[in-house]
Amino acid sequence: MDIARDAFVDGKWIATTERFPVHDPFDGSTIAEVADSDDALIDRAIEAASRAFEGWRKRPGPERGKLLRKLADTMLAEEDRLAALCTRENGKALKESVAEVRYAASFLSWFGGEAERIYGETIPATHTGQRLVAIREPVGPCAVITPWNFPYAMLTRKLGAALAAGCTVVAKPAEETPLGTLALAEIAERCGLPAGVFNVVPSSDGARTGGRLLASPSIKKISFTGSTEVGRIIMKNAAEDLKRVSLELGGNAPFVVLSDADLDAAVAGAIVAKFRNTGQTCVAANRFIVEQTIAETFTQKLLAAVGKLVTGRGSDDGVDLGPLINDDAVAKVTRLFDDAIEKGAKLLAGARPTSRLVPPIVLTDITPAMQLWHEEIFGPLVAIRTALNETDAIIQANDTEFGLIAYVFTRDGARQARVAEALEAGMVGVNEGLVSTAQAPFGGIKHSGVGREGSRHGIEDYTQLKYIATRI
Ligand code: SIN
Repeated sequence: MDIARDAFVDGKWIATTERFPVHDPFDGSTIAEVADSDDALIDRAIEAASRAFEGWRKRPGPERGKLLRKLADTMLAEEDRLAALCTRENGKALKESVAEVRYAASFLSWFGGEAERIYGETIPATHTGQRLVAIREPVGPCAVITPWNFPYAMLTRKLGAALAAGCTVVAKPAEETPLGTLALAEIAERCGLPAGVFNVVPSSDGARTGGRLLASPSIKKISFTGSTEVGRIIMKNAAEDLKRVSLELGGNAPFVVLSDADLDAAVAGAIVAKFRNTGQTCVAANRFIVEQTIAETFTQKLLAAVGKLVTGRGSDDGVDLGPLINDDAVAKVTRLFDDAIEKGAKLLAGARPTSRLVPPIVLTDITPAMQLWHEEIFGPLVAIRTALNETDAIIQANDTEFGLIAYVFTRDGARQARVAEALEAGMVGVNEGLVSTAQAPFGGIKHSGVGREGSRHGIEDYTQLKYIATRI
């Protein structure tokens, strides 16, 4: 497999002396040694993005859109190669990598269309002979810092919006998965994206690189997907320069199943919401809250479905769940498992993790005293707690500092509306286990983040309004 390994700055591939290894999560073998960007290279990337900004912002929206759609089409034409690379560096099952390439390309094509529709406003004048308008302008060069769980999609959700709006980008991919981002840079180069519009600075030191990007007055906005802890640091530092921030942070999603739910639909939704990417998503169902009258039936149906999931090497046929990303991830799931068992949880499926390959675990008798009630599990562990009734389920669901997404399963139309509105989350899936899509606003409330990605709201976050009053 031909893999891009160098930094991509100002349209050039930069080979650095310092390199860092990228590992296959399945067996820990080294896939590639990637350029480790130092401060000077990061500064070069910022300068390139600043220089390219003037030309890029002046290009008509339809032209920017056309280039974005070309990137999307090229990604799709090279789907097999890109998916195989994703499975190698992230470990996820190949079918999930294929789905991710399509999901990622959808952001580029959708934002490509939106580049033609960034409208301003005409405002009624106060006086005769006056024209008042508000136009939307790009905020400027942006830094995007992306996570390892969706190496393509979390990049394109930011990159597509930024480029469509007329901003330029310096991207810092996760240390675990820089290869996908570099593969997209190589595609961007082939598609004729002008030099400096999209720069990639891989780094083994996220704190230093993020700090450098934050400290630069040329960077006008930072978009970050990752932990709440790091999000807080970014927001504090961004305040220094009053930079814009978009933060997509941790989740602790409740998955509520009410007594009148279609239980087969709830189980199908649970499998997607819990096990996508081996449970390593911010939108993963973290706490199953099931009305007690149907808890036994739901649990038995879920156990039957979970029993069919195959764990193994992501590239092998028939595998549903690949390995966890690294040993730290295994340690976290193990800690949460041990704590829950010690505090009285009952093990119905799976076992204490012993390696990165973690077959599905199902625990019941969960209580709020357990750490997993409050922390994002980020692994294939189902934690079930019963609720007395709808009100109790809502109170339990909202018992968290996070508010990214919540799921509820019920057939009753009035309950669907009532519960969806009562749940404290930026997104709600009603009888739906997968809500993410390019045209809808993705993002959280409470400690789950600031801003929205995807949709017209996602693109507005990369623009600023300018009001112009003209005497004519
Ligand atoms: C995430 O896990 O951060 C994103 C998941 C998604 O886009 O569905």
